[in-house]
Amino acid sequence: MDTPPVDIKRGLEGVIFTETRLSAIDGDAGKLSYCGYDIQDLAAGASYEETAFLLWYQRLPATTELQMLSDWLRANRRLPKVVWGIMHSLPEQATPMEALRTIASTLSMFDRSCVHEEIGGSSLCRSVSLTAKLPTVVASFDRLRRDRPPIEPRPDLSHAANLLYMLSGEEPNPAAAQALETYFVLLADHGMNASTFSARVTASTLGDVYSAVVTALGTLKGPLHGGASQKAMEQLLEIGSLENVDAWFDRKMDTRDRLFGFGHRVYKAEDPRATILRKMAQDVAQRTGHTQWFDMSARLEERVRAHPYFQERRIYANVDFYTAPLLWALDIPLDLFIPMFAIARIAGWTAHLLEQQRNNRLIRPRAYYVGPRDLGFGDITEREPLVEAQPEAHCVAGRPANCPAALEVPPRF
Ligand code: CMC
Repeated sequence: MDTPPVDIKRGLEGVIFTETRLSAIDGDAGKLSYCGYDIQDLAAGASYEETAFLLWYQRLPATTELQMLSDWLRANRRLPKVVWGIMHSLPEQATPMEALRTIASTLSMFDRSCVHEEIGGSSLCRSVSLTAKLPTVVASFDRLRRDRPPIEPRPDLSHAANLLYMLSGEEPNPAAAQALETYFVLLADHGMNASTFSARVTASTLGDVYSAVVTALGTLKGPLHGGASQKAMEQLLEIGSLENVDAWFDRKMDTRDRLFGFGHRVYKAEDPRATILRKMAQDVAQRTGHTQWFDMSARLEERVRAHPYFQERRIYANVDFYTAPLLWALDIPLDLFIPMFAIARIAGWTAHLLEQQRNNRLIRPRAYYVGPRDLGFGDITEREPLVEAQPEAHCVAGRPANCPAALEVPPRF
């Protein structure tokens, strides 16, 4: 029998359930580091492959070590043939995140004996394999849905450059490739965010790498987490022009709607990734000459910063806010924004899985039961009047015809 809890931590706010050596966040100072290295230094100097090495091995690589990991990642970019058939058979309505989640799950069946002595154990081997393949899945799915043939990965290109190449079929502009690479570094890990936590929960059951990554993909997709970058871009598209920002913002404040790309559970100062992404988005906008989306973002942020509602709650732009104009300026389709996040964050998810495996204990919190107790279980016919009084119960029982409109099961597509 549960006893009344002293303090229910809704959303597990402030709960520390483990130690980590991967990333450290100082929410009040607006600081982030991976394994002791400040994010600003990593963004300025590290490649994504080097960052993945740092997270997986918890130290920076020497030249030969980076070369080895880099070679292994690049050698793993291609997808097994059967996966093409599955990708072709996905319904037209499938979104890139649905395709990514499905194919990531499928890939586990082709990876039964993943070992690589020099790299490390089978979990690390699988982490490398899946990290290498996610960009190929995303780019190939995007091309197939546009009736274009998928493009073979190029091992001579960096993680980001190769992805841009596989999306467009053209040699990527070096500045664009560098911007995407830096974006990947910035998003590679971030403490106990929701998707990483869910990956660790799966790892704690002794679940495998693929199961943990699929769990994390499902969690990332929600608009309060990784889905916020797409929502932030949808906001800009809805606003439409710099002139409309103020009126749009005033309307949102009247209706008290949540603004996507603002606020954070941990940061009560500016998110250090937003600081870097703001500058990157501005640079890319100026280079391409399409400054409209950056200018609108900057104006919206200005209004938020000046408003007492956000000041009182210490709400600032988060990582997803300037991701929106940045990815848009890089010609990344709107519904690939979340997959881009996933392509970056898989290094963190898998590094956390490895860390969980090294010192595992099943993650199993509790909830405080507040429902009825000691109800009598009678004959089913005796329940009908009860159901009449509670139409929601019909819906749960799968009788949509009797559901109040708001509770009807929506059509599948
Ligand atoms: N717009 C308007 N009000 C907000 C926002 C926002 N973006 N974020 C928080 N608030 C308000 C909220 O209404 C509440 O007000 P009150 O105290 O009057 O009830 C207060 O601030 C605290 O909000 P909360 O939802 O309890 O705070 P949280 O720590 O659970 O929320 C958050 C964190 C990220 C879910 C939230 O800030 C949010 O919904 N932001 C918009 C979605 C978003 O951008 N998500 C990306 C998060 S960062 C990167 C990532 O994880 O992918």
